Amino acid sequence: MTAFAASAPAKIILCGEHAVVYGQPAIAVPVSSLRVTAQVSPNPAGRAGLYLIASEVMEQVILSANPPYPEDPLALAATLALQHWQLDAPDLTITVKSTIPIASGLGSGAAVTTAVIRALSMALDRPIETTTLNELVYEIEKLHHGTPSGIDNTVIVYEQPVLFVRDHPIERLVIGAPLHVLIGDTGQTALTRVAVGDVRRLYESSSSLIQPILDSIGNLVRESRKAIEHGDAPALGKLMNQNHSYLQQLTVSSPELDFLVTAARNAGALGAKLSGGGRGGNMIALVTPETALSVQSALLKAGAVRVFTTTLKSDPAIT
Ligand code: PMV
Repeated sequence: MTAFAASAPAKIILCGEHAVVYGQPAIAVPVSSLRVTAQVSPNPAGRAGLYLIASEVMEQVILSANPPYPEDPLALAATLALQHWQLDAPDLTITVKSTIPIASGLGSGAAVTTAVIRALSMALDRPIETTTLNELVYEIEKLHHGTPSGIDNTVIVYEQPVLFVRDHPIERLVIGAPLHVLIGDTGQTALTRVAVGDVRRLYESSSSLIQPILDSIGNLVRESRKAIEHGDAPALGKLMNQNHSYLQQLTVSSPELDFLVTAARNAGALGAKLSGGGRGGNMIALVTPETALSVQSALLKAGAVRVFTTTLKSDPAIT
């Protein structure tokens, strides 16, 4: 057998995180330059069972026998896929490599699961429908996040800009003109399920205060969609700034995120906000080609451990 490889991208949430858990819309886009790759190859002679090697992602080597270690998301991803195909664990080695920072709001978990199932599907010659893959990845997301909305797996599996509403068919998004986004990493990892759980407690204890914030986020996401479709970056930037204020009110920002957001705005970004679960992880800044360099250096000076650059465009196939 030759080796088979498959990959999946990172993602950012442009607007609507957290409120999306409560049925509001959110907009997410793939970041195709940051990826997880899973390679499936034959086992070395004398090795039996399915080996999952993901040193960069989780710094451990896992032997997935039959049944494997059900509490491990990576082993469970392979197990779920094998159950779906009604197959026993094959004698293969899956090696996972990633350039996506972990636990920082960029969808590393969903990308790993997607890449592993895709690579297995190729190696075992068991084609998998995209909708089925999305459902399997969502099952694993529950281990990472507790009660995920499903936005991460959807944008990563489809690798398209999406307007996502929980339990609704996905709407692909047309991007009217390219959008230039910087992704600034605070370097602090944060567990999305902790932030999501805290927002849930806040919601349950003071829903009359929290519901209007969630509604306002939903409204600004709908406005953002129009701005994106019209290629109106200045309007989108203002909406991103508003979204960040609402996320602060939901208590999911952090001093480090706020510091990077302010630094980006002061250096000329059209807008900036945290992206993803918050409390750490990454923020995003909307820039123009003219301001990109100055905002990037302002972010690094303000303590970002790294800054990624991405340009959001519609897939020509869907415009
Ligand atoms: O995986 P993260 O950190 O990008 O967060 C996903 C977005 C949340 O709205 C915070 C959670 C969810 O399940 O939608």
